[in-house]
Amino acid sequence: MLRFLTAGESHGPQLTAIVEGVPAGLALDASQHIDPELRRRQGGHGRGKRQQIERDAARITAGVRGGVTLGSPICLVVQNRDWENWRVPMQIEAEGFTSKRVTRVRPGHADLAGAIKYGFDDARNVLERASARETAARVAVGAVARRLLDAIGVRVGSHVVRIGPVAVDEQAFGTLAFDDLDWAAVEASPVRCADAAASERMVVEIDAARADGDTLGGTARVVAANVPAGLGSYVQWDRKLDGRIAEAMMSIPSVKGVEVGAAVCAARSRGSNVHDIPTFDAATGFHHRTNRQGGLSGGVTDGEDVWALVHFKPISTLLSPLRSVDMASGEEINAHYERSDICVVPAGAVVAEAMLAWVVAAAALETFGGDSIGEFRRAAAARRDSARRLR
Ligand SMILES: Cc1cc2nc3c(=O)[nH]c(=O)nc-3n(C[C@H](O)[C@H](O)[C@H](O)COP(=O)(O)O)c2cc1C
Repeated sequence: MLRFLTAGESHGPQLTAIVEGVPAGLALDASQHIDPELRRRQGGHGRGKRQQIERDAARITAGVRGGVTLGSPICLVVQNRDWENWRVPMQIEAEGFTSKRVTRVRPGHADLAGAIKYGFDDARNVLERASARETAARVAVGAVARRLLDAIGVRVGSHVVRIGPVAVDEQAFGTLAFDDLDWAAVEASPVRCADAAASERMVVEIDAARADGDTLGGTARVVAANVPAGLGSYVQWDRKLDGRIAEAMMSIPSVKGVEVGAAVCAARSRGSNVHDIPTFDAATGFHHRTNRQGGLSGGVTDGEDVWALVHFKPISTLLSPLRSVDMASGEEINAHYERSDICVVPAGAVVAEAMLAWVVAAAALETFGGDSIGEFRRAAAARRDSARRLR
């Protein structure tokens, strides 16, 4: 079973992740395989000053020897450079500790709910962990999952399809197959958008929100290509892969909705306009004429690209703060402001991509097993072979 945990506060010394269940024999190098993913998460028009302080890089401290996984737990560490500026208010020891309490809770953030839950009088205790700084650790973990997927030829990507009111042309870009997307254009766009005209308008929209002291949300599309048929299962509720993808996406801070395939569009249409018609070709096996259901039927991969739309709310820390309440006095006040992003959808897309890589890799390992990467690869190849044959 593949599993991971993360630890670390936003302004603490470091983020740590432990990944267990990766088979032995997988080549893994932090600077080659993990750091480029961390850099992608740091980018995107609309991010705040924190990204100018951090230069995220992962250090592997366990589970790898001579550049190859051992089958033992892998430990990944990402330093927080900003910790230098927070040594006293974030120090671990009691002696000499002082903190300026945060009590002016931000609407839409975890501040108030977290303080009530854990009995805190200082919302810093909440926001330090609720902060999406934690997603840097997830991107590092996702990079390990991506290495597993590389071994069986699965590729994962993400692109932004909406920022606030500005959206791509849905017919042209909204449901494109992985291989038909211009990934170089996505990576070159400051908002990770494949549509150059929409990309420019998204940048203008973000700048306008920044000028108004406001924030913006949007939608990213995540896609996994060449996913073997038969991952996930319909036999039990918690084995359905669409459900597991939705949970993984919803666990990303500020994600408030997920569609697997063109779900909202399907809900507004008749069945005759929605369902993907299967076909058979003697050389290449089973396919579908369209892929509106996101590569999943009954919670099982059907051999098409697995794709989902991930909806992010506008982030809740506003330079022109909303009205709120001081949780210490009950007084109506302006919410707390802390250095913040304006729009996180491009970075959030990279986090969503990491989570999709994780869920697909975990499902592949459940189906194919393998204590070594060779066993895993051989079982995946056998499945691909069998999936091509008539039943
Ligand atoms: C990559 C990324 C960066 C984020 N940066 C900020 C930020 O700078 N300020 C902020 O208020 N929220 C930010 N968020 C969102 C908050 O972490 C999130 O809204 C908060 O934890 C409450 O959780 P919820 O929105 O899921 O309910 C970010 C989210 C992501 C994915």
